[in-house]
Amino acid sequence: MYLTDYKLEGNLLPIYTYPEPVLSQVAKPVTVFDQALRDLVRDMLYTMYHAPGIGLAAPQIGLSQRLFVVDVDYDRDETEEADGSVGVAFSNLRPMVLINPKFTRKAGETTSKEGCLSVPDVYEEVTRAETVVVEYQDLDGKPHTMEADELLAICLQHENDHLEGIVFIDRLSPLKKKFFKQKLIKEKKRL
Ligand code: NI
Repeated sequence: MYLTDYKLEGNLLPIYTYPEPVLSQVAKPVTVFDQALRDLVRDMLYTMYHAPGIGLAAPQIGLSQRLFVVDVDYDRDETEEADGSVGVAFSNLRPMVLINPKFTRKAGETTSKEGCLSVPDVYEEVTRAETVVVEYQDLDGKPHTMEADELLAICLQHENDHLEGIVFIDRLSPLKKKFFKQKLIKEKKRL
């Protein structure tokens, strides 16, 4: 379900990158549906669009809670400003927020190249279910069911993994996983 009357505004939140421990923790269910939650979702969407990314889960901004935002189909255009600087224009935003999501059905298999805002500069093929049915709550705590395929299905599974403390490189072969994890740990030490 898309958020209606969405306005692109909010604060940029810091995005945590691997191996921050919060990315490996199983997140806790959201139990309070209040204004603070709305503000959090507003800021997560603002951060996702500006990253830019197609999904952002709460653990990626350091919050171990079961929610994520997605938008797999928006337009982002770079514009040249009069002073020569580069501006960014967004259009066709269709933001969604899924709170306490749970897959009730997964079918088929599809392999595609994935990346992650928390795993910079790594793009690898991951195999996931082709279609999914997910139950979740909206900002008011109201339950919904959604069926998804194609990129949205992949994105929902990738984001839900974050709630389970799984980053996408965990889904690679043991050899590749070890290689990328060591590389990321080394790069982090250099910062
Ligand atoms: Ni990710």
